[in-house]
Amino acid sequence: MLGVIGGTGLNEIEGVQVVETRRLSTPWGVPSAPAQRLRWARGECWFLPRHGQGHTLAPHRINYRANVQALQQLGVRQVLAIAAVGGIAATPRPGELALVEDLIDYTWGRAHTFADGVAGPLRHIEFAPPFNPEWRSRVAACAEQCGVDLVTDAVLGVTQGPRLETAAEIRRLARDGCTLVGMTTLPEAALATEAGLDYATLAVVVNPAAGTADGSIHAAIEASLEAGMAQVHRVLTTLVGQSAQA
Ligand code: HPA
Repeated sequence: MLGVIGGTGLNEIEGVQVVETRRLSTPWGVPSAPAQRLRWARGECWFLPRHGQGHTLAPHRINYRANVQALQQLGVRQVLAIAAVGGIAATPRPGELALVEDLIDYTWGRAHTFADGVAGPLRHIEFAPPFNPEWRSRVAACAEQCGVDLVTDAVLGVTQGPRLETAAEIRRLARDGCTLVGMTTLPEAALATEAGLDYATLAVVVNPAAGTADGSIHAAIEASLEAGMAQVHRVLTTLVGQSAQA
């Protein structure tokens, strides 16, 4: 079954029925929240809110290993991760979506691997590309089918947070080639790859990154989050419906 990891603005999904709730534990500890099996008009998926119910977990405090392993325990093989991000490049604009193509890691101190030679055998997974191309193509096709425009060549820089960036930090990220900035997706994507899951990130641009536009970032987030999440909902509806057919 499809697994959906919800981010900021998607701690719960409206208009679907929760048909099962599972409190899981893993060798890495407990996931951010109980997993919910959601029934859509067509199809079902497992849902896990990354920041916990009520959005209480900061990005660096999320137990990414427990979250990924919990989804695996539920039999999930394909994961669509939703992430609210800041826009560095001119497109996508706030309220628009990107299917992230590549990543740069600026995080530190997060438990970021299952395969460090202590808890599990040491492995050096390949991570180029970081997202399974076939799975990304399927998500892109679903977006096209439901009329949601996606930028598909976005590079996401993942910062430590929870504070937002300085303008100089964003200029540096832009020089590095980042077109988006967010605080999650890593180590989540790497752990999913270690676990053998197909994983893709659907990013919702909710604000212009620091120093790239006038005005308060929080006001921008408030203004664009809902429109962006409405589009995410459409993509999910199509994707879950298709998974039901497969
Ligand atoms: N920076 C980092 N993470 C974010 C941002 C941002 O501007 N907006 C949403 N998540």
